[in-house]
Amino acid sequence: MRKLLIAANWKMYKTPTESTAFLTSFFPLVKNIETAEIVLCPAMTSLTALVDAARGKSVCVGAQTMHWLNEGAYTGETSPTMLTAIGATHVLIGHSERRQYFNETDTTVNLKLKSALAHGLVPIVCVGEHLNEREQNLTADVLNLQVSVALEGIDAAALAPLVIAYEPVWAIGTGRTATPEIAEDAHKIIRTKIASIAGSDVANATRILYGGSVKPDNARSLCCLDDIDGALVGGASLEPTSFSQIIANAT
Ligand code: G3H
Repeated sequence: MRKLLIAANWKMYKTPTESTAFLTSFFPLVKNIETAEIVLCPAMTSLTALVDAARGKSVCVGAQTMHWLNEGAYTGETSPTMLTAIGATHVLIGHSERRQYFNETDTTVNLKLKSALAHGLVPIVCVGEHLNEREQNLTADVLNLQVSVALEGIDAAALAPLVIAYEPVWAIGTGRTATPEIAEDAHKIIRTKIASIAGSDVANATRILYGGSVKPDNARSLCCLDDIDGALVGGASLEPTSFSQIIANAT
């Protein structure tokens, strides 16, 4: 039985004050929810304040990216040891905006995934096809490649905390959500690929989230499906009421 996971990706929005103010309004709305794990991923500058504010509350805090090394001369980067030192528990890896604007590749996703697992961070690895790839019937090829390179060289026993987020790039921030059928089909492709690499126990335990224009009114139809284990939410997670409604509707 996989526990639902609903994660907010605030991207480059919210100061530390705005982040903790969100939690003050948001937590009372979700404090009785026991059937979903809730994760907030703020900007790096808000991580410490949000971790502190979330202490003792059933809300986890994660980063939107990280480097794979512990330290070094990498201006602007944040390491996994820095994240665990401040109490972050989750990390997004390979979000399509990181791939598009910051040159992340399947290879860096693999390095980051290995590092996150080694540091006890719950990795949320983002995969998904572009519109032209879907139109050329390449969705399965793209997802299979992204998943297989991401998992390369990782022992199946280490993969227990793995979370995958299927985010079709054409659905991100566009208001164009994948239909439940499209999403379920993609999630099945991903789970089958994980099974072929790491075995069916790992595949059955891996939570696969859907991301891409998730809103209160479509959360239920997506999250009720067999292979959809939650959501990674961008725009609609910025406001406490809409994010809490997504969680309520998904659970
Ligand atoms: O990480 C979240 C995704 O990029 C989805 O963003 O909900 O604004 O479409 P969105």
